[in-house]
Amino acid sequence: MVNFKYAALHSDLMVESYSNVKGTEDYYPEQKFVQQHIFSNLREVAQSYNFKEVETPVFEYLDLLTKKEGEEIINQIFVLEKRSKEKLGLRFDLTVPGARLFITKQKQLPKPVKWFSIDKMWRYEQPQAGRLREFYQFNCEIYGSRSIISDAQLISLAITALEKLGLRLNKDFKVYVNNRKLLEGFLQGLTGKKEVFDIIHLIDKREKISEDEFVEGLEKFGIRQVNELIKFISLDDLSDVDETSLNEKAQEGLNSLRKIFSLLDGKIVFAPGIARGLSYYTDLVFEIFDADRKLRALAGGGRYDLLIEQFGGLPTPATGFAMGYSTLSLLLKQRNLLPSYKNMLKAYVAPVNDSARQRAFEICSELQKNIIADTDLMNRSLSKQLKYASSLNAEYVVFVGEDELSRGMVKVRDMQSGKEEDVRLAELSSYFQSKQ
Ligand code: HAM
Repeated sequence: MVNFKYAALHSDLMVESYSNVKGTEDYYPEQKFVQQHIFSNLREVAQSYNFKEVETPVFEYLDLLTKKEGEEIINQIFVLEKRSKEKLGLRFDLTVPGARLFITKQKQLPKPVKWFSIDKMWRYEQPQAGRLREFYQFNCEIYGSRSIISDAQLISLAITALEKLGLRLNKDFKVYVNNRKLLEGFLQGLTGKKEVFDIIHLIDKREKISEDEFVEGLEKFGIRQVNELIKFISLDDLSDVDETSLNEKAQEGLNSLRKIFSLLDGKIVFAPGIARGLSYYTDLVFEIFDADRKLRALAGGGRYDLLIEQFGGLPTPATGFAMGYSTLSLLLKQRNLLPSYKNMLKAYVAPVNDSARQRAFEICSELQKNIIADTDLMNRSLSKQLKYASSLNAEYVVFVGEDELSRGMVKVRDMQSGKEEDVRLAELSSYFQSKQ
């Protein structure tokens, strides 16, 4: 008799256990191949800019993660179930764990310190295209330099990385630059308030909400000069900023923008509406978007000169950015810039009958020390093995049979030309190495 209750429960379990969690992604070999292509290009560019790779644990003390953050990101932290008194959370970016890493060795490290990482992050978000709950970020940070050349170098690195992957600056992607001091100073002047992060946060959200919601939000913060604010954040030319109305802070921001524009002339676009949602930024900020502005941001970053001190380190200027893998891979796919997957198998070692299986295994193990090789794991007939080897794009098949073995030989077939030759067993490894 069928137990219906059990069957129903069981089928629910089946569904749950076979689908991945909302906002996460599985990587089959095809996707892993693409990912490796992207990561190795990013890694190479970071290394050529003299950044060294670091890695931090996926979880940190919750206190550290929440110490300097705004409410939105705190709500997005995945908090781990409490087992003792410790409260832990999954990292949502590398800036915070990176600061901890830096502070721990701050005194010994020659400055500036330039670190990068390519790692997974977690945020409890409403998943959508390019926005996940588990995602990869390519992260670069510079600690100890106040020079604006550091900021320029980071932007230049991000541009070089995207170009290396085939994307064209200003045609496929654009770099939008602003300065928190300019925006903060302008908002302080406009509102008469000192604390304006809430408004900055709302400006950061502008593209994700309707115009009405945006205006309503501004009014809620008591801003009556809505048009003036919208006019300011819509400027796209640095020379259009009305200097006469700026307070000292905003003026400082404007001067720093002038410097970065002279360092990166023609490569960056002025966008005073780039606010950045994270609270730790103090100066220059930037975001990179696809040129059509169809996707979410490809990258974002900026200077955070107070964070290290706020975390208990010695006062240290810092600047950095992170590039998201999801949007980047989406854009590369749209532009047909992803390599097509090719299975790599140099040699398939085929026992011609059952009595050759052991020798085939041994020969294959020897080859595996130097090249990608495999042998039959399915007890298949020779013809089925050949079919399987071609489905894997094997470049060569090594036939292992008693006749040849008794002469110390094996037969090797070039799968593309179909040509076969006898190769001395003792020379098989060097035969394949010469074919690399
Ligand atoms: P962020 O703007 O939060 O900045 O993230 C940087 C990039 O990571 C975004 O532009 C986006 O491409 C990607 N990203 C962020 N959230 C998600 C998500 N839920 N799903 C997929 N991709 C996402 C930071 O994280 C700063 N810590 C960057 C930084 C480093 N600032 C200074 N140093």
